[in-house]
Amino acid sequence: MKSFYIGSLHIKLPIVQGGMGVGISLSGLASAVANEGGIGVISCAGIGLLYHQKPADFLKDCIWGLKEELRKARAKSNGLIGINIMAALTNFSDMVRTAIQENVDFLFVGAGLPLDLPSYLTPDSKTKLVPIVSSSRAAKIICEKWKTNYNYLPDAIVVEGPKAGGHLGFKKDQIEDENFALEHILPEVVQIMVQYKDIKSIPVIAAGGIYSGQDIYRFIQLGASGVQMGTIFVTSEECDAPYAFKKTYIDSKQEDIIIIQSPVGMPGRAIRNEYINKIESGTEVPGSCPLHCIKTCDYQKSPYCIMKALYNSSKGNMKRGYAFAGSNAYLAKKISTVKEIISALKAEYEMAELKMI
Ligand SMILES: Cc1cc2nc3c(=O)[nH]c(=O)nc-3n(C[C@H](O)[C@H](O)[C@H](O)COP(=O)(O)O)c2cc1C
Repeated sequence: MKSFYIGSLHIKLPIVQGGMGVGISLSGLASAVANEGGIGVISCAGIGLLYHQKPADFLKDCIWGLKEELRKARAKSNGLIGINIMAALTNFSDMVRTAIQENVDFLFVGAGLPLDLPSYLTPDSKTKLVPIVSSSRAAKIICEKWKTNYNYLPDAIVVEGPKAGGHLGFKKDQIEDENFALEHILPEVVQIMVQYKDIKSIPVIAAGGIYSGQDIYRFIQLGASGVQMGTIFVTSEECDAPYAFKKTYIDSKQEDIIIIQSPVGMPGRAIRNEYINKIESGTEVPGSCPLHCIKTCDYQKSPYCIMKALYNSSKGNMKRGYAFAGSNAYLAKKISTVKEIISALKAEYEMAELKMI
């Protein structure tokens, strides 16, 4: 697989491990991927719950958790580490400031348009800014706003298609529509980035449903410089999720991977289980909102707290939570090391390349 650059940073293996909250991609998984030459990403969604202190102060605990996970990742790897921050988080500013102060290599920002992201950079900061988008329109808006307001363009851009796990940047009826498939939107985003090539080279990273070396090869041929993969790393030994969470992937069948309507106001892809059945049957009732963690969450109407549900599953309590997963999660058959997963991807990639020569 061909390496690429984001600014001055050399990405030896063109694989970004997608940030996965709550507690699914922390320092364990991120450092393992970074050690293989890819970019390891810590998700800071809900990290304060994992670093819960008494008396509880969710916002302070999030900052502490982020610093701790970065410190642990750096102790295990000299490779490239990023932080994934959702623009919809109420503590978005806190998290961005902390990550930049800590000199993280990359900030990956999705779930909303991060139009003011460059304003957090300081003259000596080295952190590269990478928005995650689901359309060429969003990519264009971000580039134009950043250029006009901050004289800055993204250092790279992730384009995430509708087969991804977790929250999706699509309307429900777009998810199965071929016009919104990654194969369709990736070349459009690449075209937009070409328009800025005289000012800055902006590599495009493809994400969503990429699960094999053949898939990687296909998206590189369509103009991507690298890929972002989440689901495939969940069933790694190093993934920070508990075994009960990983097992839901291994036990799942294709028909169990479904689209749910998340309380944050976006569709999400998850694995059907008892808890989702309860939500759908209306037996869960709206509760209180202790965390106020997501700007767009309408907690008075939603039957459950998504942060609590995802926290429960990150602790292995699948009866009170569920697992987000990409459309290919059912392909997982066993737990492997990150090294084994990446070796297999490299071999498959080479096979695909040879077939085309
Ligand atoms: C369990 C899980 C949690 C996720 N959490 C986040 C998150 O916190 N922030 C985010 O931007 N994307 C999140 N994602 C999306 C991934 O980062 C990644 O881009 C996507 O899953 C790629 O598709 P794939 O899983 O098919 O490889 C999550 C995905 C999964 C499977």
